[in-house]
Amino acid sequence: MTRIAVVTGGNKGIGFCIVKQLCQKFNGIVYLTARNTNLGQAAVTELEKLGLKPHFHQLDVSDDDSVNVFKEYLSKTYNRLDILINNAAIAFKMDATDPFGIQAEETLKINYFGLKKVCNALYPLLKPHARVVHLSSGAGHLSKIPGASLRAKLSDPDLTEEDLDKLMNDFISSAKAGTHVEAGWPQSAYSVSKVGVSTLTRIHQKLFDKDAREDLVVNSVHPGFVDTDMTSHGRSSAFSRYRASMMTPDRGAQAPVYLALLPPNTDIKGKYIWSDNTVVDWLAESTPPL
Ligand SMILES: NC(=O)c1ccc[n+]([C@@H]2O[C@H](COP(=O)([O-])OP(=O)(O)OC[C@H]3O[C@@H](n4cnc5c(N)ncnc54)[C@H](OP(=O)(O)O)[C@@H]3O)[C@@H](O)[C@H]2O)c1
Repeated sequence: MTRIAVVTGGNKGIGFCIVKQLCQKFNGIVYLTARNTNLGQAAVTELEKLGLKPHFHQLDVSDDDSVNVFKEYLSKTYNRLDILINNAAIAFKMDATDPFGIQAEETLKINYFGLKKVCNALYPLLKPHARVVHLSSGAGHLSKIPGASLRAKLSDPDLTEEDLDKLMNDFISSAKAGTHVEAGWPQSAYSVSKVGVSTLTRIHQKLFDKDAREDLVVNSVHPGFVDTDMTSHGRSSAFSRYRASMMTPDRGAQAPVYLALLPPNTDIKGKYIWSDNTVVDWLAESTPPL
C-alpha cells in the first residue's frame, strides 16, 4: 500500500519547496501539481536533478474539469490520499489597476472557492490519519477584519460552510458596489480570502471529528514572510518593514511540512499555526510579529 501526498501550486515558491521537503521526508509518492503543465514538468525536472522523484499531474484549483480529472485519476490509480497541502493562491500587486470588485472576485475564486473545490473533490479519498494543510497567512488572522459584527459571525462555533460561502460572496458583492469598508471588510481581497481559509479550517476539523475515518486532521498555517514572486521578492515598498525578516522559500515550507507530518493522534488540529510551528490564538486581538 503506497501512501500519497498532493501539493497544489507546486511549480514555484513555497509549494515547490514543500514538494522538495516531502520527497525527502515522506514515505510515499508526492504529487507536484500545477495549473500550467510545462511549468509543472520543468519543476519536476529541477527536483529530479536533486535525486528526488516527485510525480506530476495538472491541476487548476479553480477549474471544475481539471479538479474532476485529477480526482478520477487518483481514485482509479490509488483510491487513497494521505496528505493534501492546499498551497495554490494568488495576490494582486499593490499597484494593480483592476477594479477592486474584480480583484475580490478573482482572489476569492482561487484562494477560497478553489481551495474548497479541491477539498470537496479529494476529501472522500482521505484515509485514516490523513493530514490536510491549508496555506493561510498572517493576513488570515481574524483580527484583520475591522467589523466587530463580521468577526462575531466568522468566529461563531456554529458557523457552517454554507454560512461562510455566503459571507465570502457578500464580500464580493460589496466590493463590486464599493460598500465593503462600511460593511466592515478590509481593503484587501487577499486578507478576506485567507480569513476565509482559516475559518474554513475550523469548520472542516469539526466535520473530520465526526467522520468515521479515524484521526483526520486539518490545520491552517502562516508560512512566514517569504521571498517569492507573490511578495515580489520583498522589492515593493509596501513590504519594506518586513524585509529584514524575509525567509527563503525552503524556510517558508517548514511549517506546512511539519503539519503534513504530524504524528498519529496529534492534538494539533483545527488550529492556526505560525511559521515557528506554534499554535496562535486566531481569536486574539492581534497576531505575533510577522
Ligand atoms: N510568500 C509569502 O510571504 C506568503 C505569506 C503568507 C502566506 N503565503 C501563502 O503561501 C502560499 C504560496 O505562496 P508563494 O509565496 O509561494 O506564491 P507564488 O510564488 O506566487 O506561488 C503561487 C503558486 O500557486 C499557483 N497557483 C495560482 N493559481 C492557481 C490555480 N488556479 N491553480 C493551481 N495553482 C495555482 C501558482 O501557479 P502559476 O505559476 O501558474 O501562477 C504558483 O505555483 C500561498 O497560499 C500564499 O498565499 C505566502
